[in-house]
Amino acid sequence: MGKFKDLFVKRHIEFSAFFRWHHWIRFFAIIFLIVSGFYISYPFLSPEIDPNPTGFLYAEGRAFHEIAGFIMISMFIGKMYYFFFVKANRDEMRSFKDLFSVKKWMKQIGYYLLVSKHPILSGAYNVIQLFAYIALYLMLTFLIITGLILYMHAYHESFLSFLNTPLISLEVALGGLANVREIHHILTWGIIIFIIAHVYMAIFNAVYGKEGTIDSIVSGYKWEIPESEK
Ligand code: HEM
Repeated sequence: MGKFKDLFVKRHIEFSAFFRWHHWIRFFAIIFLIVSGFYISYPFLSPEIDPNPTGFLYAEGRAFHEIAGFIMISMFIGKMYYFFFVKANRDEMRSFKDLFSVKKWMKQIGYYLLVSKHPILSGAYNVIQLFAYIALYLMLTFLIITGLILYMHAYHESFLSFLNTPLISLEVALGGLANVREIHHILTWGIIIFIIAHVYMAIFNAVYGKEGTIDSIVSGYKWEIPESEK
């Protein structure tokens, strides 16, 4: 291919295997948590009538919700490790450099309004993206904490019982169990809003940016458009 190689669009690895697996496991867990969570909130199905006390439909829904909740917790821990300790992933941390640059904010907003070019980034994410991810991680942290408080009340002798004392203090600080449940529910709507914005942005970047952004979260690769073609 030699001298013709500049005629082809180049590709580079954008997302590692860990990143892609983490993304899709979390995607299915979140969808399941939202659906099962809304069912727990409003249990509209009733089990088949049976004289034996075996119709534990609500408890089953709750148990599956908790299993998906623990999958989310393990993904969260994995991602935190990846973010703080994996050297190859320093790109994410470098994005924070741009967060306080008014110029980067203006350029990024201009790009999304189709009036300016994409700013050069210091790290993996642009400022708006980073802001959205910070909000997502704050919401996930509180969903996990409030979820664990709700969980603790049914399984107070579980393998997590060593967390009971701090969780109870937190429950009191939040105004009691009913409030904790309400906060857990409201945060779910925050996650839904994030998902809508996230999918819109992914499509926008794929169509307008033409870099194969959506394929990359499946294949791992992103296309590099040659300067002459931009
Ligand atoms: C993205 C993450 C999550 C979402 C979207 C979510 C969503 C929800 C929703 C909407 C409810 C119903 C609240 C209500 O009654 O109005 C709920 C309940 C519950 N969630 Fe989650 N949840 C998440 C994570 C977790 C985690 C990590 C745990 C911890 C194991 C957890 C444990 C629980 C428990 C135990 C309940 C039942 C409360 C009850 O029986 O009244 N959740 N969740």
